[in-house]
Amino acid sequence: MPKLFIETLGCAMNSRDSEHIIAQLREREGYTTTQEFKEADLILINTCSVRERPVHKLFSELGVFHKKKKEGAKIGVCGCTASHLGEEIIKRAPYVNFVLGARNVSKISEVLHKDRAVETDINYDESEFAFNDFRTSAYKAFINISIGCDKACTFCIVPKTRGDEISIPADLIINEAQKAVNAGAKEIFLLGQNVNNYGRRFSGDTQKINFTELLHRLSKIEKLERIRFTSPHPFHMDDAFIKEFAHNPKICNSIHMPLQSGSTKILKAMKRGYTKEWFINRVEKLRAESPGVSISTDIIVAFPGENDEDFADTIDVMKRVRFDQIFSFKYSPRPETEAEHLPQIDSEIASQRLSYLQTLNNEILDEIHAECLGNSYRVYFEDLIHDGYVSGRSDNNLLIKVKGSEELLGTFHEVKVNAIGRTILTGEILA
Ligand code: 5AD
Ligand code: SF4
Repeated sequence: MPKLFIETLGCAMNSRDSEHIIAQLREREGYTTTQEFKEADLILINTCSVRERPVHKLFSELGVFHKKKKEGAKIGVCGCTASHLGEEIIKRAPYVNFVLGARNVSKISEVLHKDRAVETDINYDESEFAFNDFRTSAYKAFINISIGCDKACTFCIVPKTRGDEISIPADLIINEAQKAVNAGAKEIFLLGQNVNNYGRRFSGDTQKINFTELLHRLSKIEKLERIRFTSPHPFHMDDAFIKEFAHNPKICNSIHMPLQSGSTKILKAMKRGYTKEWFINRVEKLRAESPGVSISTDIIVAFPGENDEDFADTIDVMKRVRFDQIFSFKYSPRPETEAEHLPQIDSEIASQRLSYLQTLNNEILDEIHAECLGNSYRVYFEDLIHDGYVSGRSDNNLLIKVKGSEELLGTFHEVKVNAIGRTILTGEILA
C-alpha cells in the first residue's frame, strides 16, 4: 500500500481539509498514512498564508523533503499558500508534482495523476461534494458548515485563498453529525470562516436556514452531548443567536470572539463592521445570558495607523473583558489585501506592544486559573498525553488532565482541580 505523509499548518479548517484529503486518498488510491516522511510515497504540505512567516518556511521545508525523500516519492503543496502562489510554487521548486488550492481539496485524486497540475480555482464550489470519511479523533468530529469568506477585512488574505462564502446545505451537515455520533463521537465542532453568517448563500436549491436554526436542529441529535463552533463574527452576534447559545444545553459555554483591535478607529480601517462599544455590549449580553461563559479572542497589534491611544483601547477591552485565551499577532502585510501598501508601524514598537499585551494576558490568565482551584468541572476526555495522563475539556473549555489511561477516552467525568498551570490544569476524578 502506498504511504502518505501529510503536514498540516494553520487553522481548524485546514485540519479538516487534511482529513478530507486523507479520506479521498485512502478510499480511491489505497493510501495509508505515515508519520515519517522518508518512508512516504506522497508528501503533502497543507499550508497557511495568514501571516508571512509560514510562507518563507514552506520553501525551505520543501527543499528538505526533496533532498531526503524516498526515491520516486511525489510532493504536493495544498491549502491557502497553494491558492495564493499557484504556479509560482512550481517555478520556485520545480520538483513539486502538484499544487492544490484550499478550495479544490476534492480534486486530490485528479491532480495526483497529472504531471505538474495546478488546481487553484477559487470559484470552485465544493459545498455539496460528498467527501469520503476519515476522522483524526473518534471522540470529536470537525464538520464544515461553509466554505470561503464574504468579508473584506483589510488585513486578511483568506477571501483570496478560499473565495466567496457558500453555506453547506443543512441536511448534509446534520447527516454528517449523525454519522459521527453513530460512530461514537459525543462532540461536534462546526467550522467556517464566519459561522454565524451561515445561510446567506447556498449554491443549490435547498432550505435556507440561519446559524441559530442550524444549532437548534443539530442539538436534536440524540446521544450528541456537545456542540462547539469557530469562528463567529462579533458583527453577526445578534440577540437571537446569544439566546440560543446561552439556553441550548448542548452548546458549550465557550465562544471565540475575534476582537482584532479595541480601537473603533482601527476597527473601521480594518473594515470589521463593529465598534469597541458594540463588542463590549455583546460580551456583556453574553455574560448576562450565559454566566461563566469562557471567551477567547484574536488580537492584531500594530495595524497601520495604530497609535498609542488606539493600543490603549485594545488594552482597555482586555481589562474589561478578561479573555480566557488570547491569540495575539503582530500585523503582517499580506499580498492583494487592502492594507498591504499602508505605511507600516515601526517593528520595534510592534514588538513592544505585543509583549506588553501578552504579559498582561498572562497575569489575567493566572488570576482566572487561580479561581478554578478547588472547583469541579464536567470533563470530556479526548487525548492520551505523556506520563500516564489523559486530558479533556470542561464545558467552558478549560483544558484539564488527570492520571489515567485509555479507558477514560470518550467518557465524561466530574473532575476537581487541584493544581493550576497557564495552559493546562490538573485534577482528580470525583465521579
Ligand atoms: N497579520 C496578522 N494577523 C493576522 N490575522 C489574519 N490576518 C493577519 C495579518 N495580516 C490573524 C487574525 C485572525 C487570525 C486567524 O489571524 O487575528 O483572526
Ligand atoms: Fe486557515 Fe486562514 Fe491559514 Fe487559510 S490562511 S489555513 S483559512 S488560518
